[in-house]
Amino acid sequence: MEAKPIPLTAIRGMNDILPIDTPLWQYFEAKIREIAASYGYQEIRMPIVEKTELFVRSIGEVTDIVEKEMYTFLDRNGDSLTLRPEGTAQCVRAVLENGLIHNQSQRLWYTGPMFRHERPQKGRYRQFYQVGVEAFGLAGPEIDAEQILMMARLWKVLGIQSAIRLEINSLGTLESRQKYKEICVTYFRKHISQLDDDSKRRLETNPLRILDSKNPDMAEVIQKAPSLLDYLDEPSRAHFEGFKRVLENADIQYTVNPRLVRGLDYYCQTVYEWITDDIGAQGTVCAGGRYDGLVTMMGGKPTPCVGFAMGIERILLLIHKLNPMHFQTVDVSFLFLTQNAILPGLKLAEMVRDHISHIRILMEWDGSAKSQFKRADKSGAKLALILGEEELANNTISVKFLREDMQQITIEQSSLVAFLLGHS
Ligand code: HAM
Repeated sequence: MEAKPIPLTAIRGMNDILPIDTPLWQYFEAKIREIAASYGYQEIRMPIVEKTELFVRSIGEVTDIVEKEMYTFLDRNGDSLTLRPEGTAQCVRAVLENGLIHNQSQRLWYTGPMFRHERPQKGRYRQFYQVGVEAFGLAGPEIDAEQILMMARLWKVLGIQSAIRLEINSLGTLESRQKYKEICVTYFRKHISQLDDDSKRRLETNPLRILDSKNPDMAEVIQKAPSLLDYLDEPSRAHFEGFKRVLENADIQYTVNPRLVRGLDYYCQTVYEWITDDIGAQGTVCAGGRYDGLVTMMGGKPTPCVGFAMGIERILLLIHKLNPMHFQTVDVSFLFLTQNAILPGLKLAEMVRDHISHIRILMEWDGSAKSQFKRADKSGAKLALILGEEELANNTISVKFLREDMQQITIEQSSLVAFLLGHS
């Protein structure tokens, strides 16, 4: 006897999005499209593979993403390529390469899969989906704040606003951050015995990331570290104050978290995270900030930039928890009580679709009348259309109201479209 082949499975941390879940994804995507357009953002679609160098240069060599999370491989030409771990770097590459920020500002958004080789758990996957938003060429704090308003609007539309809080911080200019870095290194050197191995290593390579450590044994030493906000230069302070002023003016609640540094190196000035406590340990649903230095680092002219990205799975987990939505995917089930009805029924259904383009008709091709009725009921359809010998003989069709306590009726086939229009 031949051995039964072992079934193949998906890669750990890379999930199928099943039909039961896609209506919520589509609903979410429709809302994003609507809101992005209402703030003047246009969609850009980019490849999911880029040259490895792009991410190493922009995200930073000594970051978790570049050090241990990228899916990097050599293609058949021997070039090093990487599945994108995020969209900001490639968006900068795309706008530069296509001349989109030459003497003009640009507001763009994108959505799609990102890839990071992290330890999978609830809310953390190796292929996950982001919506990202980037504005190029606008230096003032108003645009930073307007992006916050845009997200706040989305949370409200999705009914999850009460479960998400906003934490903000300013990293200042590169120069003020450099000054603060030195102060931080001196402070942590003094307390080196309290640092774990990872942080000792970071002290040499990326000391600000120590502030981000979640190790409870280091909570105290981090808490007592000098605050970045005390070392901001004047323009950075003014930018941060301006940002907060717009938020307050729009009644957006926030807390300032001076330990918030973010895990990617390209940030300066404004940084922020939207966090929830309702979906477990991976509670950051959206994060972003300014990255004014990135365009020059990639070979372009100095260009102020600000943006954010949200993790779609995390937001959908939150919607599931707080505000479960039920989506109807079928309007009408079409039932056949005789084989003879199949061809005329197909014609009728096509005619209905010609006249009512949005109608969703599910044909029940086979099975007994009882099983067809059962499936029609399960489908969520409001109406069942029934064709049997009697209806065929009289050019009629019967209608059963599946969700209302009403008698079954029989109508002329010629009045079916008008009837369905009246009941949609
Ligand atoms: P990020 O903080 O690395 O920023 O990711 C943004 C969001 O993506 C996170 O807040 C989280 O919701 C989601 N996310 C990240 N990793 C995972 C994962 N493994 N599984 C599920 N969701 C995840 C960026 O990517 C920046 N590009 C954001 C940005 C845009 N900054 C400026 N413009």
